[in-house]
Amino acid sequence: MKHILFAADHAGWEMKNELISYLSKEGYECTDLGTNSPDSVHYPEYADALCEKLIGGGYDAGILVCGTGIGMSIAANRHKGVRAALCTDEQYATLAREHNDANVLCLGARFITFEKAAKLCDVFLTTDFLGGRHKIRTDMLDK
Ligand code: RB5
Repeated sequence: MKHILFAADHAGWEMKNELISYLSKEGYECTDLGTNSPDSVHYPEYADALCEKLIGGGYDAGILVCGTGIGMSIAANRHKGVRAALCTDEQYATLAREHNDANVLCLGARFITFEKAAKLCDVFLTTDFLGGRHKIRTDMLDK
């Protein structure tokens, strides 16, 4: 079973919770790192918490949700070993996995529907990295 980490800010917490319900029913083990209220919080703190856990091991991927997905992706990509991809359509989610071996999916709750977000998660979590020439490139990222 895949074990997925989730975190969001105040703009993304409701979508994050809906995704956790949906993906739990799909058989994923989901760990929720907050936030869990509409009170304003700072997205880098949530991205940092998720990335530190992911890098520590024992998890397969992370999903970060904020208003646009932009802040979360900027924050997440400052962590060595994290390859975070902000995706808005299924082809991006596919290629983020196939070519970039992305291990964190970033979503913008203010710009996509829950149905779209669920589809992006499905694609992201079930698509394999192609390796080969793409591995040469992803290896360069952490040098
Ligand atoms: C919060 O208002 C918003 O700035 C945040 O959720 C995110 O979109 C930042 O990139």
